[in-house]
Amino acid sequence: MSRASLNRSGNLSRGYAGAIAPHAGAAGSLLSRYSLRLGNTLVRHRAELAERASRVEAEFASRVKTEFIANISHELRTPLNSILGFSKMLKGTGASPLEPRQIAEYAGFILGSAEGLLSVVNDVITISKLQSGKFELAMDLVDLDELLHCCAAWAGDRVENSRCRLITRIDESLPAILADAEHLKDVVIRLLSNAMRFTPAQGAVALTAKCGPRGKVIICISDTGTGMSAQEISVALTEFGQVDNRLDRRHEGTGLGLPIAKTLTERQGGEFLIRSEEGRGTDVILLFAAAAQAGEPRTASEHAGIR
Ligand SMILES: Nc1ncnc2c1ncn2[C@@H]1O[C@H](COP(=O)(O)OP(=O)(O)OP(=O)(O)O)[C@@H](O)[C@H]1O
Ligand SMILES: [Mg+2]
Repeated sequence: MSRASLNRSGNLSRGYAGAIAPHAGAAGSLLSRYSLRLGNTLVRHRAELAERASRVEAEFASRVKTEFIANISHELRTPLNSILGFSKMLKGTGASPLEPRQIAEYAGFILGSAEGLLSVVNDVITISKLQSGKFELAMDLVDLDELLHCCAAWAGDRVENSRCRLITRIDESLPAILADAEHLKDVVIRLLSNAMRFTPAQGAVALTAKCGPRGKVIICISDTGTGMSAQEISVALTEFGQVDNRLDRRHEGTGLGLPIAKTLTERQGGEFLIRSEEGRGTDVILLFAAAAQAGEPRTASEHAGIR
């Protein structure tokens, strides 16, 4: 194969003996023929690359769409089937009437399924509003002490079901931050819910908050659960992305919790960081500037020393 390149004096040289251009005119025409051919090859190569990229993109979009439809229809159908089934039983088609205890139990199942269904629909609406920039926040000074203790109480009520230990360490006298209290609470609860869901019995989930360097407030939701690899983290952060996307997976969910939590945190001026290791657990860290420094630039490296 012949190789061509410009030598130090700017002439064209070839990779085989005796092919050095004899004079400037010949070298010039050789050079222009060579650059034309090189140009054509580059254009062709670029077109091939673009075609390949759009094919990969289309395949990816189609796979995401298929996964999305399979996932969302599973998440909608399961509670709907439960609502239909228990409503039919309440309506009473059997010979023997239902006992009051059964009526209350079935009504409870219907209520739980309807609430689950509403939360799936709300999440789909939230992510689409966040993506289209139509999501409105009510930013105000937020007392973190009250807000985080409220989240810890929410987790405390549920931690028994997940049979793991809940640790709460919220420093006293945390500075106020500028945020939307309801939506910040929503973020922390989504993260606590993930931490409890993906931590097996006997594991631990922690909610900690402290002041970091330069007046930053560090909120950390940690667990000793299944953890994720770097690649799994990026899947988990995409809308509808689930590390285990089989329909017979152990955990229910639409895969919207993390993308919503991340976008909501960032829209409130915070930083959202995930540190995780497979089999070792996960830390999700939220960084907010104290209200007095809310206008200062933030860096992502100040969260060190949480664990
Ligand atoms: N703390 C965690 N430990 C291990 N894996 C996690 C953790 N948090 C999230 N994941 C992984 O990331 C995926 C996406 O999480 P995300 O919260 O977005 O969705 P979900 O919990 O599956 O559903 P939902 O929409 O109900 O929150 C999860 O399915 C899980 O595989
Ligand atoms: Mg979740």
